[in-house]
Amino acid sequence: MSKVEGLDTILVTGGAGFVGSHTIVELLKAGYKVVVVDSCINSHPPKEGRDLPPVLERVQDLTGQTVTFHHLSILDREALKDVFLKHKVDAVIHFAALKAVGESVKRPLDYYHNNITGTATLLRVMGEVGVKRLVFSSSSTVYGPAKYFPTDEEHPTGQGVTNPYGRSKFVCEEMMKDLAKAEEGWQLVLLRYFNPVGAHPSGDIGEDPLGIPVNLMPYIAQVAVGRRERINVFGGDWDTPDRTCIRDFMHVMDLAEGHTAALTKFGDPAFSGAKPFNLGRGKGVSVLEMIAAFSRACGKEIPYKVVGRREGDVPTMVASCALAEKELGLEGHEEPGRNV
Ligand code: NAD
Ligand code: WQD
Repeated sequence: MSKVEGLDTILVTGGAGFVGSHTIVELLKAGYKVVVVDSCINSHPPKEGRDLPPVLERVQDLTGQTVTFHHLSILDREALKDVFLKHKVDAVIHFAALKAVGESVKRPLDYYHNNITGTATLLRVMGEVGVKRLVFSSSSTVYGPAKYFPTDEEHPTGQGVTNPYGRSKFVCEEMMKDLAKAEEGWQLVLLRYFNPVGAHPSGDIGEDPLGIPVNLMPYIAQVAVGRRERINVFGGDWDTPDRTCIRDFMHVMDLAEGHTAALTKFGDPAFSGAKPFNLGRGKGVSVLEMIAAFSRACGKEIPYKVVGRREGDVPTMVASCALAEKELGLEGHEEPGRNV
């Protein structure tokens, strides 16, 4: 996706994380300058004597471009404001958040504080310095248990969301809608990701969670390389064809492209307010199908065991991608290519 004229410097919060680092590759390729703010609460910090987290060093090597990094939390209002005063930021892509669903149930205040207060702090600072364009990492989780499939952006949100993480995303969306109603000039794009998986084709960057993975794909990957013995499949009694859950897995590089596409909305003077878009593939894949696909791709059997359901899981989530295709110019990513 080509660069939007007049948009030069993008501030990326949470840019040392999984989706952020892949998106930065696309941003640099498109010709944007990138300034990253990350507290490294869920990513590896710079090694002693280095300026950048290891993942951003690899991004620089991959792209031949440079990235500026500020090691701080978006909760630190003064430090965050200094970053805006130091760089002429044209727009923000806001990834910074805590994202582990199970952990959010155990530590709700940490999640509400980091994700909601963090976002409010960021928006306040942006308002003060007059930067009013933001792309927000939202989630399909805001739909709760979906009433129909594929699920489009008209589906109600906030109902039946089962955990503090999901509620924090819902509240952030509502906060942005309220802000855009209260004050003129905001351009806010809310991207509801479905299930991002995969890695940059170079293999130099990828998903590298700290601790034991909670998500399906990094867990399978660790079984494949022998770090874990087998994967537990949560539930073999769902109302789906092979009785395991169905998700809309999308490649992280397609998701990264979704962000450069979202920036094009800022080049449209008719666009204002806060608008949600689904980012998915529009295709459901079951947990067992995913394990089988991974086994085929790596030429190795992935041992698994079907165990009880995981609390809070829903049987099926599949995106309608029509709006993103129409308004963001994203083509459907129906067929493998980069996919597993
Ligand atoms: P990640 O944990 O890999 O990256 C998030 C980054 O934000 C980390 O580097 C972390 O250190 C940083 N961070 C967290 N709180 C911060 C703070 N207060 N100040 C500065 N930095 C902070 O997660 P990810 O998978 O890359 O997800 C990125 C965003 O996308 C998150 O907002 C997440 O909720 C959202 N999302 C992710 C998925 C998914 O499956 N990966 C799906 C839907 C939505
Ligand atoms: C996928 C499927 C599990 C691990 C989560 C968040 C959602 C969004 C994306 C951020 C489910 C099954 C998993 C394992 C398994 N994130 N599974 N064994 O739950 O669809 O979505 O990430 O916004 O908000 O909830 O993704 O990868 O955890 O699970 O059987 O060891 O794999 O039960 O059916 P999920 P996931």
